[in-house]
Amino acid sequence: MYMEKGVYPYFREIDSHQDTEVMMDGKKVLMFGSNSYMGLTYDQRIIDAAIAATRKYGTGCAGSRLLNGTLDIHVQLEKELAEFIGKDEALCFSTGFTVNEGVIPQLVGRGDYIICDDRDHASIVDGRRLTFATQLKYKHNDMEALEKELQKCEPDTIKLIVVDSVFSMEGDLANLPEIIRLKKKYNATVYVDEAHGVGVFGRNGRGVCDHFGLTDEVDIIMGTFSKSLASIGGFVAADKDIINWLRHNARSYIFQASSTPAATAAAIEALHILKTEPQRQENLWKITNYALKRFRECGFEIGDTESPIIPLYVRDTDKTFLVTKMAFDEGVFINPVIPPACAPQDTLVRFALMATHTKEQIDFAIDKLLKCFKELEIIK
Ligand SMILES: Cc1ncc(COP(=O)(O)O)c(C=O)c1O
Repeated sequence: MYMEKGVYPYFREIDSHQDTEVMMDGKKVLMFGSNSYMGLTYDQRIIDAAIAATRKYGTGCAGSRLLNGTLDIHVQLEKELAEFIGKDEALCFSTGFTVNEGVIPQLVGRGDYIICDDRDHASIVDGRRLTFATQLKYKHNDMEALEKELQKCEPDTIKLIVVDSVFSMEGDLANLPEIIRLKKKYNATVYVDEAHGVGVFGRNGRGVCDHFGLTDEVDIIMGTFSKSLASIGGFVAADKDIINWLRHNARSYIFQASSTPAATAAAIEALHILKTEPQRQENLWKITNYALKRFRECGFEIGDTESPIIPLYVRDTDKTFLVTKMAFDEGVFINPVIPPACAPQDTLVRFALMATHTKEQIDFAIDKLLKCFKELEIIK
């Protein structure tokens, strides 16, 4: 139906390098749909590192980490990530999705419990579905609801709480201080997905756990390379025993080919840049605060976001598609978010910032979006 109406918003093709401006169908478009928070996907140093690794190691690894697919640079990246995140050890997987899918089922078994926020990412949901534990859910960020679920659990069992640190569509943060208080009260285990936290929050982008000073209290931290780290792949970091268990049991680690030399070298280089160029993170926050203020002043409904992910609520699926298309025609790329990624009454367009966006680009986009939102009477 949306195809017939000409507003189908998926699989739009980019045919240029990826930065704050991209070319699509011969037209220059401002990109506000990317997760490249540090704006590093076209950084020459990272491109050079990926090319050098391809020259040295080849284009693929043709095997899993367990057998022939471990390169010295995989191990180097794991060591650097463990040190960066602040845990004993880390393991790298070929995607962030398969970290959650492969790790979560190895942490709980029959008779245990897994407790998730109802807005957790699809990869956490899939990991949860693969467990034999009792599956419990609580209303998004509702700490009383989480406590009620914890009270349902038998004592002397594993109770694994799994949350996104930054919720990927709404941009708000998990209430980690309260989750850790409840962890201690009920003797639970906490797993945090830092896909959208790394790069953006914490010292030099160490993530939301670091931002709250809670890295030691969180038992397992995962992240991805597909956002701030300008590559593809993912990692899990935890204490030695947990990592050793996962190394020999996580099915997507053992039975999946390891990540390419190019992707691995790119993530290493991006991590070095994160550590040595704090001005990127500073700039991201400067423009994020600017955009948040401007959106609010213009009358957009932006919910509880505290991050460079800014949801612009539309609360109507047809209008969400329509406004995405109208913005695109005005030269602004944003992503529509409809069920099942959100509740039917919460449809929105997701506006995401990169450290390399300029104020002028943001002003241009907000002016165009305001025009479109008013035309559709989303803003009166
Ligand atoms: C919260 C969260 N976790 C995990 C993933 C999966 O990561 P990747 O796309 O890098 O495989 C994503 C990706 O969108 C995500 O948003």
